[in-house]
Amino acid sequence: MDSIRITGAAVLEGEIPVSGAKNATLPLMAASLLTADTLELTNVPRLRDIGTLIKVLEQHGVTVETETGAIRMTARDIPNTTAPYDLVRQMRASILVLGPLIARYGNAVVSLPGGCAIGSRPVDLHLMALEVLGAKIDLGRGYIHARAPEGGLTGGKIIFPKVSVGASENALMAASLARGTTIIENIALEPEVIDLANCLTAMGARIAGIGSERLVIEGVDALHGATHSVVADRIEAGTYAMAAAVTGGSVLLRNVREDLFGAGATVLRKAGITMEERGADIHISCAAGELTGVDMITDPFPGFPTDLQAQFMALMTKARGASMITETIFENRYMHVPELRRMGANINLNGSSALVRGVDTLYGAEVMATDLRASSSLVIAALAADGDTTINRVYHLDRGYERLVEKLSACGARVERIPGQ
Ligand code: UD1
Repeated sequence: MDSIRITGAAVLEGEIPVSGAKNATLPLMAASLLTADTLELTNVPRLRDIGTLIKVLEQHGVTVETETGAIRMTARDIPNTTAPYDLVRQMRASILVLGPLIARYGNAVVSLPGGCAIGSRPVDLHLMALEVLGAKIDLGRGYIHARAPEGGLTGGKIIFPKVSVGASENALMAASLARGTTIIENIALEPEVIDLANCLTAMGARIAGIGSERLVIEGVDALHGATHSVVADRIEAGTYAMAAAVTGGSVLLRNVREDLFGAGATVLRKAGITMEERGADIHISCAAGELTGVDMITDPFPGFPTDLQAQFMALMTKARGASMITETIFENRYMHVPELRRMGANINLNGSSALVRGVDTLYGAEVMATDLRASSSLVIAALAADGDTTINRVYHLDRGYERLVEKLSACGARVERIPGQ
């Protein structure tokens, strides 16, 4: 297995192009199942998770053409409505095919994703939403068996008791083709959900209230093809903003808007980072020694994203003073803590909160991470550390960061990928 070696303490200076968001691309790809026409996505990142969803779609019978930065998907006919375990277990987001399949074909058999490293991650809200639209759902032998009534799904009122990004996306896609009106309350406001709603609208869906917590969807008989450019990856952008800041550097993040950061922008500014919108880009800088400890709680958008919690903790290990970080979305999302401690970080964990006291020096070490965002927190710590850090299990980073080594090296980081034996 490949690893990444980083020699720390180089100041990052330069430009980083921000890729299209992985978490927007995946539901947008699933939306291709809703139409017999071609859906073309541009600004698509080249990532392992995208490759996994391509395999899922292809085994359903979708024709997929890829070229640099673009995917064209045509689901003219779907001979197979089963998403098998060996693909779904590689990537939980495969469950996003459930809503489109049942809405267009009236049935779907999708493997239950199972737990993952950061928490148990149930899918009850996805199933509840589809049941409101009339789906009959049975669970058996590790699979979700979903069937629409004769005549297809019908509109209904879906009230989410808790914000779920994936369940919101499945509900939105299914409701677009359900007969009659669907109201979705407490829908997730994440930019990736809004990107999906905009793409569905371009495909002919009738959705009112986009950007608010209550959507009203008038189902249509069929959707048509469209071309859609994927929204920028706010998590990638936030990661590089913190990477630059921890080195006392300055970078221009290309093609990303500040509103995508939500409360993240406020928290980063409070921590001493200067963030300035410049046209379609954002300039980030932080003078050496200027990082200050601030408290942070993760929350659904526009709150601080859980997907930047680990990176923020790495940033806070080098801040002046203390920071209390509280994770409210996933129950087991502190696996980066022991690894950061091995690099000299001072972190005390108590339940869902972590008290981070800034230290003067982090030290390079051999570390390993168990999930995508934990791995990127180790990259941030390594960039700030004295000496060499080797990060193992790079495949986690390959799931979510396109050309990470190239993007960081272009800004002066001393980073290289070491092929596994
Ligand atoms: C998406 C993102 C992931 C991010 C997460 C939260 C994608 C592909 N992934 O994941 O990177 O960390 O949003 O912003 O977009 N829950 C239930 N029942 C359900 C569904 C969710 O209880 O049926 C719970 C989860 O366990 C979790 C919380 O709701 O505690 C939020 O999860 P959710 O928003 O659904 O996350 P994902 O869509 O899986």
